[in-house]
Amino acid sequence: MSDASLSLNAVSLTLPLSRWDTSPEQQSSVVGELEQGKVICLPELAFALSEEELSLLDPAVVGPKRKNISYQPLKDKLTGVARPEQEPAVRQLLQRHYQASRQLIAAILPEYQQVLHSPTNSLRLHPVKRWTENTSWRKDDSRLHVDAFPSRPNQGERILRIFTNINPAGECRAWRVGEPFPKLAERFVPRLKSYSALGSWLQNAVGITKSRRSHYDHLMLQMHDAMKGDADYQKKGPQVAIDFPAGSSWICFSDQTPHAAMGGQYMLEQTFLLPVKSMQQPRRSPLQVLETMLDKSLI
Ligand SMILES: [Fe+2]
Repeated sequence: MSDASLSLNAVSLTLPLSRWDTSPEQQSSVVGELEQGKVICLPELAFALSEEELSLLDPAVVGPKRKNISYQPLKDKLTGVARPEQEPAVRQLLQRHYQASRQLIAAILPEYQQVLHSPTNSLRLHPVKRWTENTSWRKDDSRLHVDAFPSRPNQGERILRIFTNINPAGECRAWRVGEPFPKLAERFVPRLKSYSALGSWLQNAVGITKSRRSHYDHLMLQMHDAMKGDADYQKKGPQVAIDFPAGSSWICFSDQTPHAAMGGQYMLEQTFLLPVKSMQQPRRSPLQVLETMLDKSLI
């Protein structure tokens, strides 16, 4: 068997949920599988759009040079819409997806209901191919990677993402998903450059980062780059393809689960942050996996 095969069952769990507001009593928690790094696939969980919202599914609605439209629901802050007259409809759509995402958390991840914070929502209108063709390798999300934010260090906090494919023509969102985080860390950590506390302080002082980049943030960014920069790993590393149909949703910890977007267009995405101590099994977090491996505190 080649190094490149992973089974779909090893990396994902499928739930036949069709309503965002399923009551928690009718549904058991998937927190264990999610914290293992599995992608929770919800093939029947569609997000219905009104006629007016369907007319927003056009790349021209995103501002020129912007990748996506983004929305911070708690601040009601919307950025990236090309024409101001379209802002109210976009705002309403993203607010609705945020509310639906909260209901979904209550149904299948009730342990997280009180502890998720800093929600950000995005409306992605460009075809994935456009970004893979016109970008540097570091920003090319069709290469397997784990998410790490260059300008917003998150000090070990988890990145939980809920995705919904809203493609009106029935096109799948195609992903590749990679190996469990502990294996990934074993593979890449020995190759990463060492951390400079002074360098991080300087990056913060001159405004490159919005807060100090910790040793943890340094390692995660380095790992993101090392993965994307390794052509052999991209081709032969452990991975499996998953197609997310139009009218489906899926959830994962994108800082933990190696993923690559290979195709598709039109998606809603809701991000939350989660403190490591609020997990059911904090030892599964990238922070604690790396701390155990390196035998030191990274924050
Ligand atoms: Fe990503």
